[in-house]
Amino acid sequence: MASRKISSLLSRSLSSYLCSSAGRSSSVRRGLKRFSTAAAIDEPITPSVEVNYTKLLINGQFVDAASGKTFHTVDPRTGNVIADVAEGDFEDVNRAVSAARKAFDEGPWPKMTAYERSRVLLRSADLIDKHNDTIAALETWDNGKPYEQSAKIEVPMLARLMRYYAGWADKIHGLTVPADGPYHVQTLHEPIGVAGQIIPWNFPLLMFAWKVGPALACGNTVVIKTAEQTPLSALYVANLFHEAGLPPGVLNVISGFGPTAGAALCSHMDVDKLAFTGSTSTGKLVLELAAKSNLKPVTLELGGKSPFIICEDADVDHAVETAHFALFFNQGQCCCAGSRTYVHEQIYDEFVAKAKARAEKRTVGDPFKQGIEQGPQIDPEQFNKILSYIKSGVESGATLETGGDKLGSKGYYVKPTVFSNVKDDMLIAQDEIFGPVQTILKYKTIHEVIHRANASSYGLAAGVFTQNLDTANTLSRALRAGTIWINCYDVFDAAIPFGGYKMSGIGREKGIYSLKNYLQVKAVVTALKNPAWL
Ligand code: NAI
Ligand code: MG
Repeated sequence: MASRKISSLLSRSLSSYLCSSAGRSSSVRRGLKRFSTAAAIDEPITPSVEVNYTKLLINGQFVDAASGKTFHTVDPRTGNVIADVAEGDFEDVNRAVSAARKAFDEGPWPKMTAYERSRVLLRSADLIDKHNDTIAALETWDNGKPYEQSAKIEVPMLARLMRYYAGWADKIHGLTVPADGPYHVQTLHEPIGVAGQIIPWNFPLLMFAWKVGPALACGNTVVIKTAEQTPLSALYVANLFHEAGLPPGVLNVISGFGPTAGAALCSHMDVDKLAFTGSTSTGKLVLELAAKSNLKPVTLELGGKSPFIICEDADVDHAVETAHFALFFNQGQCCCAGSRTYVHEQIYDEFVAKAKARAEKRTVGDPFKQGIEQGPQIDPEQFNKILSYIKSGVESGATLETGGDKLGSKGYYVKPTVFSNVKDDMLIAQDEIFGPVQTILKYKTIHEVIHRANASSYGLAAGVFTQNLDTANTLSRALRAGTIWINCYDVFDAAIPFGGYKMSGIGREKGIYSLKNYLQVKAVVTALKNPAWL
């Protein structure tokens, strides 16, 4: 159980946290003390939470991997092992898929009333609330994100998403169709079957919720493979679903690696649908494996290099704070990070100076400490990748305004880094860095910036700061991206669809749009014997 030490971190109210997180400077944020010193990082707080669930969850039971193998899950603050976790592979995926198949084909899940399914999801949400601090502590320990973010935003959002999908469960129905001829025509909206889901490490709980929520609400059964970096929180939460009355086999959780467990799920002939979030290159592999096996439909939520356009009429202070949040939130490890900040030439110098000052104020340190905005990156691979992009930025001639290096002697901390004078053809302006590195570019005209913003193979999100309604409307239509945030950024809600244009993905998650990923439409055509009576 989480200790009082962790509970005491919950002293700030959610609303003030959300307010500051939404990009407005608040008295709370101004009052923060900086922790970006090596000492604060090198003496990590020991989280008072026990890791109780490390096995695979198959058919409602925690079981060892068939091979008996385990792998380390690691604390990104130190590189130390948190726990050894069962390593799922081909054989375990087979076991999980057959449990999910049986739970789908024989019931009870798809055969229960929609209202009963909704009640299970609602009870799960209540249990998530009850275990908020423990789940948050596991998430922060495994991932490195600030505990306050886990406890006040992400775990509450997980519960919120479950309630949202619980609300849909008994509102899913087909249509009657006015066809030509003497026929009564209706559509039935049926669950697809066994959903295979693969999630990344940057938002382990929220990615779990975005995938499991609609799948279960629509009456499917699930085998979900978590990211090898962050297996712990999903196991804990899935256990709560069972405590809430979820029948065995409906939700199976496999910890393990991509090329083994992940690929086995993608290729499985008994998986009826795949949903994946992660890198564009792995997304292509997932699609290929699905095509080569049973042509299962695939939804993909992939990378991005999202433009954030600050017009000359923007409120500069608000824009600086929001652009900072858009990039640095979650250690910069967001698929939709505002990672190309385009600033109008008239306000460019002022913006760069303020963005630099804001990055230098960012509180970096042990994510279990109160008031910390930025913890460590997830693992050595990401850490080294980010440092090499920083090097490439310097070598290609961008101006390093601040940061540019690692922080502390342990773990994977990176200093908040800002580059100005960035050109579109530099690697740092083209590739997804997935770290705390802001790149600021200059533009002259709206026409020009539309063209430059769209000149990317990605199209996940875009931000616009302007006080001119016409500019806002024109840009939101012209930008080729799945989400456009005007005078805000990273506003997520269970009801707002999310997904990408171009190589940022296929399909939409969340909201009403997510349901169609998990439903088959069956047309039922009945000949009328006596049409003349109508
Ligand atoms: P990844 O795409 O390789 O991993 C994401 C998930 O896919 C994990 O669960 C992994 O085990 C699984 N996976 C990996 N290879 C697979 C395969 N052959 N078959 C089936 N599943 C497989 O991403 P990774 O390596 O963790 O990060 C690399 C880069 O991807 C990051 O630097 C970042 O740019 C991007 N990324 C984007 C995310 C997003 O939210 N769109 C999330 C995580 C990473
Ligand atoms: Mg880990």
